[in-house]
Amino acid sequence: MNYTQHFEAAVAKIRAEGRYRVFADLRRDCGRFPHAVWRTETGDEHPIIAWCSNDYLGMGQHPAVTEAMKRAIDEAGAGSGGTRNISGTTKYHVDLERALADLHEKSGALVFTSGYVANDATLSTLARILPGVTIFSDELNHASMIEGMRKARCERTGAGMAVWRHNDLEHLEELLQRAPSHLPKVIAFESVYSMDGDIAPIEAICDLAEKYGALTYLDEVHAVGLYGGRGAGVAERDGVMQRIDIIEGTLAKGFGVMGGYIAADKLIVDAIRSMAPGFIFTTSIAPAIAAGALASIEIVSGTPELRAHHQERAATLKAMLTEAGLPVLPTPTHIVPVMVGDPVRCKALSDALLADHGIYVQPINFPTVPRGTERLRFTPTPLHTDEMMVALVAALKDVWAKVEMSEAA
Ligand SMILES: Cc1ncc(COP(=O)(O)O)c(C=O)c1O
Repeated sequence: MNYTQHFEAAVAKIRAEGRYRVFADLRRDCGRFPHAVWRTETGDEHPIIAWCSNDYLGMGQHPAVTEAMKRAIDEAGAGSGGTRNISGTTKYHVDLERALADLHEKSGALVFTSGYVANDATLSTLARILPGVTIFSDELNHASMIEGMRKARCERTGAGMAVWRHNDLEHLEELLQRAPSHLPKVIAFESVYSMDGDIAPIEAICDLAEKYGALTYLDEVHAVGLYGGRGAGVAERDGVMQRIDIIEGTLAKGFGVMGGYIAADKLIVDAIRSMAPGFIFTTSIAPAIAAGALASIEIVSGTPELRAHHQERAATLKAMLTEAGLPVLPTPTHIVPVMVGDPVRCKALSDALLADHGIYVQPINFPTVPRGTERLRFTPTPLHTDEMMVALVAALKDVWAKVEMSEAA
């Protein structure tokens, strides 16, 4: 058996489609976000500005966050020591979960090693808790939710999945109507969709959930820290947080550290805590991570000006790109996608921005977005200045013209 040829063929296919991923070797420059240093394959180092970080507020370098992490290492050491059951529950984990429950105004919260794991573990476990459940999933839900729902189906729990067209309430209702009224239902969706930067009609989805007796599961990964009076997300901003049964979030984006969580009624949290393999059988996050995340949540939730500044920066960049005639999607959020529509061109633009202008934005290709909708996705933060934006727009115009010229040639 020649195994090598299978691996070669798998990679060759991705290369042929122009979506082979090359990771940029970057060192973030602590205290100078969004500045970083790019190391090339030959080992040369070049200063760059990062334009696509999901550390949306730059909290990953906030001195209070890094100090809290250093202090926790001095107090408790590097690792947590085990799973939550095997000595991996520390005061850092307990305090963090209390803060998360409080942020989302729920009676419980549970921390996972990442937002991906939180979605995967919770959705797959819900299917075991709710026999015969159908999970109604928005077609643009994140891979981590899809993976959890797929697992639910594999476990022969009788669980089903019904996919509704993105943000299409009529289609969702049609599917809900078709499901047997006596069986459990979960509506799983996101608040901010990270690639198109659009927002779900949360209140109307809650109305449908109420009408058809469904639980609601909302991924606020791209919204926590960024929307709502205290940064609990779009459900808080829209005044519907109480109507969401399970809120899922990350500690890695708006809060700038790492880890994921759910916040819900303490009974739901207890059931997931007791049954989800993705929670039970893995070492808990390091105390330093939990301490850093807690410090970040405290600052972010108490600083609404940060959220206002963030929105202003995104609006300013969108206006500048529009004025320059670049194909920016007019999103209602902080996410600024510039549509390219071709994987090879997308990669060429990204490479030229980095090599010629010291600007880093990664190409977004299939399977992250559908083929033909490849894009550059900019995420301006409160730390991106007007000057940086002027330089970005000029650089984009320059590389766009050069790439078009070379394509024509
Ligand atoms: C919508 C959504 N949910 C969940 C995740 C996973 O979060 P994490 O990066 O904390 O694993 C992501 C990651 O980008 C995401 O976009």
